[in-house]
Amino acid sequence: MNYAPLILGIESSCDETAAAVIRGRELLSDEIASSAATQAKFGGVVPELASRAHAEAVDEVVSRALAAAGVKKEQLSAVAVTYGAGLLGALLVGLSFAKGFAYGLNIPLIGVNHIRGHLAAAYLEDETLKPPFVTLLASGGHTAVIHTKSALEFEVLGGTLDDAAGEAFDKVARVLGLPYPGGPHLERLAREGNPVVPMPKMLKGQGGYDFSYSGLKTAVINYVHTKEQRGEEYSKADVACSFQHAALDILVQKTVEGAKERGVDTVTAGGGVIANGFLRESLQLACAKAGLKLVLPEKKHCTDNAAMIAAEGLVQYEAGNFSPLSLNAKASIPLSALHENK
Ligand code: KG4
Ligand code: ZN
Repeated sequence: MNYAPLILGIESSCDETAAAVIRGRELLSDEIASSAATQAKFGGVVPELASRAHAEAVDEVVSRALAAAGVKKEQLSAVAVTYGAGLLGALLVGLSFAKGFAYGLNIPLIGVNHIRGHLAAAYLEDETLKPPFVTLLASGGHTAVIHTKSALEFEVLGGTLDDAAGEAFDKVARVLGLPYPGGPHLERLAREGNPVVPMPKMLKGQGGYDFSYSGLKTAVINYVHTKEQRGEEYSKADVACSFQHAALDILVQKTVEGAKERGVDTVTAGGGVIANGFLRESLQLACAKAGLKLVLPEKKHCTDNAAMIAAEGLVQYEAGNFSPLSLNAKASIPLSALHENK
């Protein structure tokens, strides 16, 4: 009989306190408490408020995840937890809790790189998925096309040279007067508009995978400010729609190019921006046209969640990579260190 490990995942890198339990690749529970509503009042995440909210929520969210999974903590095989990147105080709440749990139960602690979690979300969507595949990673902090060669080997093909896609969405949303977090609000507004406002090209140099969001962002800001200074009417929905097309088309194009160039037949995606409906449809169309299989995690597993942390925990568990209880939280981890295990 196959023994499938039971893994508890904990995520607290930003404003979501999340816990999930998986048995092998089967998701048993997926709980989340968010302080986004509180943060929205300040137009962004206030680190101290996030840390306090995590400290208040973590115990209950983990208990809920275990209860919903019908699992007693003594049955767990390991505890996987995000150790970075993210807000230090926020990360420390989840990490300290996970350490206490692992120590008390005498089970392994597995420190997970948040970005590796976003990449691993696809494993839960399709239990037959295995590397090699090419992933479009688009979150609030990173945007890149990544070639997963094996479960533990990654090659960053390229990505944004400045803002991450989510960051660009959030900044443009703010200019359009939309609340935090801007991405989903901008998507909603874009549905009422047309892509008629001219946007600059985002590609840097010939070929390659790198691109830049700064020109696009500046173009939108200039357009809006000029219209407002002149007192001219303009459609915010058209601006949102035009920006969304420009910002996302390049991602789809580079992802498909990456898969073709590396000769892989499977594409996956991860990160908050992948919750965008227009991007999901574009990816589906482009992959179908190119004859590529697309594994798209459901929306709630694209934005921050603990199921993805548990999924990456499983990869590490199977590789026998466990972390010492001295593991420290890390505010930033460059994409060039994606292969490092803690
Ligand atoms: O992965 P994530 O939840 O957190 C990070 O690891 O950064 O990504 C958050 C980012 C935010 O910038 C948010 O505005 C963006 O993902 N986002 C979206 C959508 N939903 C979330 N961007 C565009 N369209 C969406 N529907
Ligand atoms: Zn994230």
